[in-house]
Amino acid sequence: METFYRPTWVEVSLDALRHNIRAFRQALPAEMKVMAVVKADGYGHGAVKVAQEAMECGVSYIGVAFLDEALELRREGVKAPILVLGYTQPEGIPLAIEHDITLTVFQDELWTALEERLQATSGPTAEAGSSWLEKRPEDSAHAVMGASIRQGKPPSMRGPQSRAGCRPTNVITTDATTGRVSKTETAAVSESMSTDAFTSTSESIHANDIDTIMTATPATTHKLKVHIKIDTGMGRLGLQPNDEAISYITRAVEHLLLDVEGVYTHFACADEADKAYTLEQHRKFERIIRHLEERGVTFRYVHTGNSAAGIDCPELSYSMVRLGIGMYGLYPSEEVNKERVQLEPVMSIKTRAVHVKTLPAGSGISYGTTYHTSGEECIATLPIGYADGYSRMLSGKAQAIVRGRKVPIVGRICMDQCMANVSGLGDLSKEEEVVLMGRQQDEAITAEDLAALLGTVNYEITCMVSHRVPRVYIRDGRREDVLNPLIR
Ligand SMILES: Cc1ncc(COP(=O)(O)O)c(C=O)c1O
Repeated sequence: METFYRPTWVEVSLDALRHNIRAFRQALPAEMKVMAVVKADGYGHGAVKVAQEAMECGVSYIGVAFLDEALELRREGVKAPILVLGYTQPEGIPLAIEHDITLTVFQDELWTALEERLQATSGPTAEAGSSWLEKRPEDSAHAVMGASIRQGKPPSMRGPQSRAGCRPTNVITTDATTGRVSKTETAAVSESMSTDAFTSTSESIHANDIDTIMTATPATTHKLKVHIKIDTGMGRLGLQPNDEAISYITRAVEHLLLDVEGVYTHFACADEADKAYTLEQHRKFERIIRHLEERGVTFRYVHTGNSAAGIDCPELSYSMVRLGIGMYGLYPSEEVNKERVQLEPVMSIKTRAVHVKTLPAGSGISYGTTYHTSGEECIATLPIGYADGYSRMLSGKAQAIVRGRKVPIVGRICMDQCMANVSGLGDLSKEEEVVLMGRQQDEAITAEDLAALLGTVNYEITCMVSHRVPRVYIRDGRREDVLNPLIR
């Protein structure tokens, strides 16, 4: 277990994390899968630990914002499927394949990148031992994941289970001398034991003939796993929900080097009481999904919903819901129905006074002496400041809880320290916990309280806590682990 030498820390309750995942699980349809969103270092809670804990609780996928975050998880031994929710530059594709990381795609540069990879690795001059062409034992398992193009059957029942099923497994062999590629397509049956059948074909195609190769589907090369994003109204990332999306998805599903595992969108206003905009986004998305389904194209993962949708309208989220803020025990807004999923905050911010003194009336406190004691006051110095994520904009506004009572933070918050007026509480010892966010006895300071003082949202409060603050993981009331990247 790592340690720390500064009496300021964040407590992460693994019990609360588990409780929250279970609470969602109970509120969601039984077959709906959960993605644990751990971007931004798990919203400040520690991405690795949260991902591990969430997987133990049965979530199916981990979501991060960009490739580096996914690589960190892999480096730390997280084996779960990981989806990069944001943009990945083409240079990241080989790494994504090597580390089995699923990318979000929606731009044409993908095709150029894939063609370049193909040309670089499939011809006679291809580097020996290129990871791109190495055969992995699990390749046949990979081939049963992703998009399915059904043959000669009407679209099946909608819903998560209907999207799994029988998919073609293709056996591709590349002759390193001639660059010729042979493809044999056989049938494979996924875990749902669908009775769909595929015919077997055998053909030979030249690796440098890109057009021909694009219609084949190899299993011996490493495919890039992707989820295709459609922008139904967030205006951020994704294909417009029209023919552009249909042709992109169709092309991707047929592509030699892609395993199109999922398709998704993101709701912009699911946390608002009025769900009209969300329903409109859903309608646009549904049109695309239905259109594809009518052509026999289905996906293993179809997802739209975040925590707000998971709480208020899980029925709009197809086969998976992407949980971020709710998993951390915070509500996405005051407008969602809190009764449906009862959450417990996971993070607390704690410190201990490192210096306590009694000052006469008129004493100036901190930079700019914006605060002067109004009489004889007892002032405690707390070793936490804006470089820890305790924003300077909280100066003169925030409170701490000491001995079960709220006391004001006085004067400007410095980079590493701030001061609290602890007058009237008696002699405060260095051992006593001071709570800056969290609960002590009957008092609580919530992420929402701090967010209100700063004019922001609870999301930003937990994300702001910097890596200088060690994360202490609590289970059953006991310290289970400590992460302190500074002295790891
Ligand atoms: C694409 C995507 N999905 C899911 C989430 C999780 O959202 P929330 O934290 O509101 O559950 C986010 C977070 O911003 C996101 O960007």
